[in-house]
Amino acid sequence: MIFESHAHYDDTDFDADREQLLASLAEHGIGTVINIGASLAGSEASVKLSEQYPFIYGAVGVHPSEVEELTEEGIGRLRSLCGHEKVVAVGEIGLDYHYPEPAVSVQKEWFERQLVLAGEVKLPVVIHSREAAKDTLDIIRAHHAEEIGGVVHCFSYTKEMARAYLEMDYYFGIGGVITFKNAKKLKEVVQYIPMDRILLETDSPYLAPEPHRGERNSSLNLPYVASAISELKGISYEEVVACTERNAKILFGLEK
Ligand code: NI
Repeated sequence: MIFESHAHYDDTDFDADREQLLASLAEHGIGTVINIGASLAGSEASVKLSEQYPFIYGAVGVHPSEVEELTEEGIGRLRSLCGHEKVVAVGEIGLDYHYPEPAVSVQKEWFERQLVLAGEVKLPVVIHSREAAKDTLDIIRAHHAEEIGGVVHCFSYTKEMARAYLEMDYYFGIGGVITFKNAKKLKEVVQYIPMDRILLETDSPYLAPEPHRGERNSSLNLPYVASAISELKGISYEEVVACTERNAKILFGLEK
């Protein structure tokens, strides 16, 4: 079944129909969901969702745009959430230079602090990196985060950058952007990276694929992403689903 590796079902966009939507995923072939924390409150909400639904697991972490809320006490809260049996990753964490705030120095400080946490609790990381390719890679290397393992969510960089992550055995989260007409660079990357490094993701409620671009996204749209990958790789849709599910189970330690 489809493994959704990155969604934010705690988002208020799902308040009106969260229960019905989540209850309908299995009948549409979605077998597992990782709900990703983007703030301290979001991390706690991820854990709550994972307690309510057997097929949901949680990632806990603070997104680079939200790190101004972090303190050592906040790191302590994340650390205790990491001990929960259904928490499988630290994330999403990273750098986002698209907006001027928070300051680069603040983003770096808390990215590094959360990488250290992931190493301590021995959980893989979910990386958010936007317009910050070099700094992200430098920090990951400086912290030997190749030993922790992880996924670069919504990978948006070049083939050369992809090679650096391949060398560290990282995974690549591929979502709705792959269906966009102007996604030439990402299509090249997907053709370049081996199938055993790819995870399916949506980033719901964001980044809905064609033909639903601009609408609220959900895991129900993942077949569009899997189809696009199957076309680019010249393999069957079923193979894409099976392979990405296996990859995610290995990364997040859910292999039976
Ligand atoms: Ni996200």
